[in-house]
Amino acid sequence: MIKLENVSKIFNKKSNPIVVFDNLNFEIEMNKFISILGRSGSGKSTLLNLIGGIENPDKGNIYIGNNNITKLNRDSLAKFRNEEIGYIFQKFILEPSLSVIDNVVIPLVIRGVDKKEREKKAKEVLMFLNLEDRINEKVCNLSGGEQQRVCIARALIGDANIILADEPTGNLDYERGQEVLKYLKKISLDGKSVILVTHNKDDAYKYSDYVYEINDGKIINRTKIGDENENS
Ligand SMILES: Nc1ncnc2c1ncn2[C@@H]1O[C@H](COP(=O)(O)OP(=O)(O)O)[C@@H](O)[C@H]1O
Ligand SMILES: [Mg+2]
Repeated sequence: MIKLENVSKIFNKKSNPIVVFDNLNFEIEMNKFISILGRSGSGKSTLLNLIGGIENPDKGNIYIGNNNITKLNRDSLAKFRNEEIGYIFQKFILEPSLSVIDNVVIPLVIRGVDKKEREKKAKEVLMFLNLEDRINEKVCNLSGGEQQRVCIARALIGDANIILADEPTGNLDYERGQEVLKYLKKISLDGKSVILVTHNKDDAYKYSDYVYEINDGKIINRTKIGDENENS
């Protein structure tokens, strides 16, 4: 389970407070494809950042499995992020001057894995994403869809159990976007948790096991795909 318990998150506490979450309780199953659907400003990215340990809540607890990540110190939290979380952003945050493989291995460099092992693992994930022909290409020479697949490869290389994707198709045309979502689906069918943040209802309902709708910092609807609307 991934569980947020009485979580509050407030930005700009001193000057002009923005309350994104006020006592949010939210629980999702692991090893599923989950979509978080909502309009711009509803709190989707903040929710993902809280789950990924990038933001700290002002109040409450966040459990990933049996781990209460709000209780981890800085080093343990960094280790948790490196080992348990693969993050895919809307804007491809890649080193444009480096090759595909040198971008993809970064999480394993941080982990201190030796070169031979890193490259072996990189080739596996690049094969999975049909990028094996582009392995030594500089990232700046790739198309948008290819760059996003490099980001996915980098999120996968560490064997993280949880893949967080924040509007990963936002910069892609329709076809390339669908390709990326199909890879995310394949990853979830491989037994990983995929949490997709999107404002696209069709994408959410097409690929997910569960769709959660968020509005103004509140979960307003939960739909299990294939079932009646549970409205809890
Ligand atoms: N670092 C930040 N500092 C101040 N306000 C922020 C910050 N991050 C997000 N917000 C505010 O929190 C609210 C939710 O933002 P966000 O989670 O990014 O929404 P979404 O991803 O659904 O568009 C918005 O009002 C946004 O302006
Ligand atoms: Mg966002």
